[in-house]
Amino acid sequence: MGFKNLVILISVVTILNVLVGQYVNCKGTDGNHYHRRTRHHQHHRNSHTHLGNNKTLYENGFVQRKETSFVLNGKPLYLNGFNSYFLMIVASDPSTMSKVTTTFQEASQNGLNLARTWAFNDGGYKALQISPGSYDEVIFKGLDFVISEAGKNGVQLILSLVNNWNDYGGKSQYVKWAKEQGQNINNDDDFYVHPIVKQYYKNHVAAVLTRNNTITGLAYKDDPTIFAWELMNEPRSQSDSSGKSFQDWVSEMAAYVKSIDSNHLLEVGLEGFYGESMPEKNPGYGVGTDFISNNQVPEIDFTTIHLYPESWVSSSDEAAQNAFVDKWVQDHIQDSKDILNKPILITEFGKSSKYSGYNVEKRNSYFEKLFNFVYDSASNGGACAGGLFWQFIAQGLDSFRDGYEVILEENPSTVTVISQQSKRMSNLK
Ligand SMILES: *[C@@H]1O[C@H](CO)[C@@H](O)[C@H](O)[C@H]1NC(C)=O
Ligand SMILES: *[C@@H]1O[C@H](CO)[C@@H](O)[C@H](O)[C@H]1NC(C)=O
Repeated sequence: MGFKNLVILISVVTILNVLVGQYVNCKGTDGNHYHRRTRHHQHHRNSHTHLGNNKTLYENGFVQRKETSFVLNGKPLYLNGFNSYFLMIVASDPSTMSKVTTTFQEASQNGLNLARTWAFNDGGYKALQISPGSYDEVIFKGLDFVISEAGKNGVQLILSLVNNWNDYGGKSQYVKWAKEQGQNINNDDDFYVHPIVKQYYKNHVAAVLTRNNTITGLAYKDDPTIFAWELMNEPRSQSDSSGKSFQDWVSEMAAYVKSIDSNHLLEVGLEGFYGESMPEKNPGYGVGTDFISNNQVPEIDFTTIHLYPESWVSSSDEAAQNAFVDKWVQDHIQDSKDILNKPILITEFGKSSKYSGYNVEKRNSYFEKLFNFVYDSASNGGACAGGLFWQFIAQGLDSFRDGYEVILEENPSTVTVISQQSKRMSNLK
């Protein structure tokens, strides 16, 4: 979710938290592969007694990357997906837990096969990681449930490991923890360079990847329900505009993730901003990341972009914002193929009812526009294999409404647009 929006929403959320005391959040191929898959396939068979009812995912093994395609069982895999960042929190409360099941059932009924959600909540209310290295088992069991329910319904997951923003803790919480230990740290972007903070992050990565799911019996790192790990949601490092500190962080952390888990795909979590490589392609500013060099790190398997034209190019009129969207998407799909030779997923796009001029028809045609970009690329051998809209909310989770929500029961016309995309993507060979 976009930066300006986020700042406004954070203020609102802070006020609401104080006033109501209630939790409201918003956002923010080769031989080796073959052997690895065979080994794990065996492992899954041995674990069948622990698995849910739907074994389809478990018998398929892990998604691989081959040049600009995702491959599962030797066949290209295309995705139509959604974001629901809060599922772990909803799952850890017995009064809302069934909403997680509803989410994946409804998703599956509409052909959605990929969900992106948070595998972090650092410090604060309902924290997963209460303090460095200390975890709340109730919340971790919530994440176990999310993964188990996703798997039962044939939906794979992108799990993000930390936030750039303050929601759910984020890099500022990590920095705060180190300061509380007497470390001298200047600003939140030291998250990317300070050795103690980097170690805290690595410890969290290890805790999540080696977690044994109490429901499925599988370690997360061995679970094919997980499509990919994401290093960080929307990383920015604006205090080092050279991009060097962030580039080094990606290299170090990507290698660390793969040293624990070589089964799963990995992506950075980027919004897509370019650094010194091609600043002219940015919406007028950079954020200390570089879409090209960050994604060139060998352990990074695919690229991602987000897009929030209303907040990124807010001074432009609607026509200029539309032109930005077209160019942003096309540039990144092209660069993923021509320069990076890696697949791309559009991991966040949406339209908020909070902007003036909103109506559901506008959102539907915006979704159709993005879905057409995805489909045109996928069906013509391009690098784009799917998109994930922001965001899907099961009915009755009103505290998570953020203006972008798609609620099946309230938005039947949008659901039709989404399920049509699922259908044509799944028909691609
Ligand atoms: C299992 O998941 C797959 C993929 O979503 C689906 O096609 C199939 O119908 C599911 N089977 C059951 C028994 O739910
Ligand atoms: C997960 O289970 C395995 C096998 O029982 C065990 O060796 C490992 O220590 C467990 N991991 C964690 C993080 O508890």
